[in-house]
Amino acid sequence: MAGNWKMFKTPAETQSFFEKFRPLVEKSEHCEIVICPPFTNLAAAVGAVRGSNIRVGAQNIAWAKEGAFTGEISGPMLNAVGATHAIIGHSERRQYFGETDETVLKRTQAALEFGLTPIVCVGELLAERESGKTEAVLTAQFQKGIAGLTEQQFAKIIIAYEPVWAIGTGKTATPEIAADAHKVIRAQVRQKFGADAAGAVRILYGGSVKPDNVKSLMAQPDIDGSLVGGASLEAASFASIVNF
Ligand code: PGA
Repeated sequence: MAGNWKMFKTPAETQSFFEKFRPLVEKSEHCEIVICPPFTNLAAAVGAVRGSNIRVGAQNIAWAKEGAFTGEISGPMLNAVGATHAIIGHSERRQYFGETDETVLKRTQAALEFGLTPIVCVGELLAERESGKTEAVLTAQFQKGIAGLTEQQFAKIIIAYEPVWAIGTGKTATPEIAADAHKVIRAQVRQKFGADAAGAVRILYGGSVKPDNVKSLMAQPDIDGSLVGGASLEAASFASIVNF
């Protein structure tokens, strides 16, 4: 269960979130719990979760180790601050910041090289869904991005299916719609990396996951977890999603 804070919270707000959140999930052993705050809060978050079952991830990662890449943060920098995961290819990065399937692949390879767990996002736009292109879009994103990994690399990634029309809109995909998309992605995995890899990979659903809809989403066998935006900003709300 991963929380994506997007561009919200200061270090002080991060601290107070974890003071409330930690006790609410300290007995939650059924899943991994990851919070991805903005880069400027990573140190505060890592300090606040020390000794707990909560992990901290970044919302992006550079494809290079270091260099003249203004505005980017590299794997070794994330290692040094204590992050363990990185969201890659979030639709907001794809839509507003020019992220492509090619850069998603490069960032994913860099995350793996530096021992971070990539949470690689795919998902279709509303217009693509409405014109019946969902399967084609997911397949293309998979083929041009994730399919470039080796089998060993693939075994270490987490995939997130995030239909763009469901993100921050309050419109959740119905459990059946989400599960159908997860099946498409898993079929791609099976074709490229084999049945064992398809069975083992964790595919998260993201897009307006809330305490009152998480149970029905998680009841779908193909949905292995959630990537939560808005509802991860408040401790009680994200804790009730974790403890669905
Ligand atoms: P949301 O965002 O839960 O606010 O829809 C999900 C995401 O973008 O990761």
